Amino acid sequence: MSDMIPFIDLGAQRARIKDRIDAAVMKVLDEGRYILGPEVNELEDRLAEFSGLGRALSCANGTDAILIPLMAFGIGPGDAVFVPSFTFAATAEVVVLAGATPVFVDIDPDTYNMSAASLAAAVEAVNQAGELTPRAVIAVDLFGQPADYPALKPIARENGLKLISDCAQGYGCTLDGKATLHWADVLTVSFYPAKPLGAYGDGGAILCKDDALYAAMKSVRVHGEGASRYEYARIGLNSRLDTIQAAILLAKLDVFGEEIAMRQAVADAYATGFGNAVKTPRIIDGARSTWAQYTIEVADRDGFRAFLAERGVPTAVYYPIPLHKHEPYSGFPCAPGGLPATEAAADRVVSLPMHPDMPQADIDRVVDAVTGYASRN
Ligand SMILES: Cc1ncc(COP(=O)(O)O)c(C=O)c1O
Repeated sequence: MSDMIPFIDLGAQRARIKDRIDAAVMKVLDEGRYILGPEVNELEDRLAEFSGLGRALSCANGTDAILIPLMAFGIGPGDAVFVPSFTFAATAEVVVLAGATPVFVDIDPDTYNMSAASLAAAVEAVNQAGELTPRAVIAVDLFGQPADYPALKPIARENGLKLISDCAQGYGCTLDGKATLHWADVLTVSFYPAKPLGAYGDGGAILCKDDALYAAMKSVRVHGEGASRYEYARIGLNSRLDTIQAAILLAKLDVFGEEIAMRQAVADAYATGFGNAVKTPRIIDGARSTWAQYTIEVADRDGFRAFLAERGVPTAVYYPIPLHKHEPYSGFPCAPGGLPATEAAADRVVSLPMHPDMPQADIDRVVDAVTGYASRN
């Protein structure tokens, strides 16, 4: 077997921007304001600026970034929150943690993002059953591509639902040049190291446009604190972002726009190199993906992965089992008609190496392996 190329190469990025990151971290250590230091506020301002609208609140991770707005909206027992099943556990987990009920919605088979038709049917079914109150929808910008907000937003508006963009994988993605917050009430981000904008540890952020919501979320972030310290207005969390992580993210944000373009160049080279050999990702009109993952579909996934591994190309599967098929989530409702597109995708998807620093030789290796697989026999 040949040596494996990296799936994601955080070391290459570190080598490229080492000096500015090291300087940023040393400054925090020298100044000693480890919790909610000045870099945290600066990062929040810069995140909002990068998105072009709203204001940002940092928090401890991308999971809390979804839980905090649910708590601030007062969503809890008896409430229904519509979520995809083809996503990372956090999207549905936070709904259960808030005490509400996740209702699983199917995806579009080409983009893997939430299907507006399935959402509309799921909301209607919950309304008809009359047991739960529909309160919110969490659309995931899966693999870095914005969900179809122009289709989802009217359904949310007509049914009085808060619209949350779980942009954990897609911070920096746009639709018609706009951040998903343009349509959503809240945009949530993860800074997990492997994410397109990753820290050197856990981190997250929430963007919103509404000042009252911002204030409520800020209170939730620090134990529900009220008008003054040690006065509590609500039940909250400890979900602060460390100053060191904020400093690292500020340094990474300086090159983030450039890195999105570098990821796009890798995606373009893949699409050209693969031609019609495999089902390549479909990006909706007007969308810019951050390419958190480059995901294709194959019928014999195990055979494909073994063939690529033999040629030094690692692969990963996001996600082999949809959430509604896992025991802890199996009792929650699904949209009428079930989730056929979700289940089909889970059987076929496979993600290829993707990172901004990918050398041409590695891109060529992936293209040769994928086209070689398609033309075997
Ligand atoms: C879609 C989605 N939502 C939420 C999260 C949670 O983010 P974190 O790992 O920072 O808590 C992730 C990341 O892993 C994710 O991919």
